[in-house]
Amino acid sequence: MADESQKWVLLVTARTPTNIAVIKYWGKRDEKLILPVNDSISVTLDPDHLCTTTTVAVSPTFDHDRMWLNGKEISLSGGRFQSCLRELRSRAGDVEDKEKGIKISKEDWGKLHIHIASYNNFPTAAGLASSAAGLACFVFSLAKLMNVNEDQSKLSAIARQGSGSACRSLYGGFVKWIMGKEENGSDSVAVQLADEKHWDELVIIVAVVSSRQKETSSTSGMRETVETSLLLQHRAKEVVPKRILKMEEAIRNRDFASFAQLTCADSNQFHAVCLDTSPPIFYMNDTSHRIISLVEKWNRAEGTPQVAYTFDAGPNAVMIAHNRKVAGLLLQRLLYHFPPNTDADLSSYIVGDKSILQDAGLEGLKDVEALPPPPEIKNNIPSQKSRGDVSYFICTRPGKGPVYVSDESHALLNPETGLPK
Ligand code: DP6
Repeated sequence: MADESQKWVLLVTARTPTNIAVIKYWGKRDEKLILPVNDSISVTLDPDHLCTTTTVAVSPTFDHDRMWLNGKEISLSGGRFQSCLRELRSRAGDVEDKEKGIKISKEDWGKLHIHIASYNNFPTAAGLASSAAGLACFVFSLAKLMNVNEDQSKLSAIARQGSGSACRSLYGGFVKWIMGKEENGSDSVAVQLADEKHWDELVIIVAVVSSRQKETSSTSGMRETVETSLLLQHRAKEVVPKRILKMEEAIRNRDFASFAQLTCADSNQFHAVCLDTSPPIFYMNDTSHRIISLVEKWNRAEGTPQVAYTFDAGPNAVMIAHNRKVAGLLLQRLLYHFPPNTDADLSSYIVGDKSILQDAGLEGLKDVEALPPPPEIKNNIPSQKSRGDVSYFICTRPGKGPVYVSDESHALLNPETGLPK
């Protein structure tokens, strides 16, 4: 048994946001190092509504590396976890905590084992990109625990080896993942284009779309696309490089019309590339298509884009509204077309930043059926509404990057045993 002086447990807890790409990453030129075929740009979502919290711990009493996700033990033997762990251990530094009598020298990290507990504040089953926040939090918290003395962009290159989109979750606001040229991936890193305050009037509404279909994972989907789609090659070489420049300019100038046009076009091209894959991959469903046409009709009726939409490898819609007023009008439209199931009340149907609901005068709404049809569909009212096709909506906004949580009471691991609380 370990003697008393060897019984310490050292903990670090961090919280990391998820992100949504407005210029998509789809396709790898190197599967192992996770190097993409094009640059991508994302918006970080407010961690108050969508984030991963991770506690990592080290102790001489641990006899192997272990991880728990949402309370359930999972295997760490996968190549991607192992790549991140290897990169982190090789960069680990000396750690000393005089108060607890802990001294770890950098050579010790090769022998010491770690425990990791991770928790998503949104349902994993909802099909929202949990791997981006999860892997980013894994790397960010372990880097602190192991005293890895690297800047954020070097950490992004480590997170990238866990899951491509994770590298963009190392920053808040607007983030670009530069594809890089080097064979070893050293220049394939994320950089911040602008922080979350730069364009803070934007409101993001996520429609969690009900789906029964088992989806193709991003990893295998993009592998099949790279192997079979000619359209992907055209996209990566000709389309994305120009779009990236335009998107950077739109973000810099807070030019919503251009931002929305580029975001929608890129989402649609990503799904076109999926359709161009053999066999074709369908990520969007009928509900996704109805959301697209609702937004398109409204944008056209207004003469200038009010809302942008984008879809990842699943049917959920992410809508970005120009400002709070537009977000309120969007919610009215979404509720008109996709009313909640009769037994669901509005407060569990629209979650996240509920102040949007108040602003739109929808908070006390008793009867969603009483909402008038939006003017742009006056002459074309659908005969049936899509009740139950959306599970719920999450209202959020652009948010900040990862943070450490210093209050030990928020740790997911017990500070005495290093096991889940
Ligand atoms: C459609 O990052 O999940 O969300 O690198 O294989 O882990 P791996 O894939 P992942 O792919 C994300 C694809 C996307 C678009 C994006 O986020 O840019």
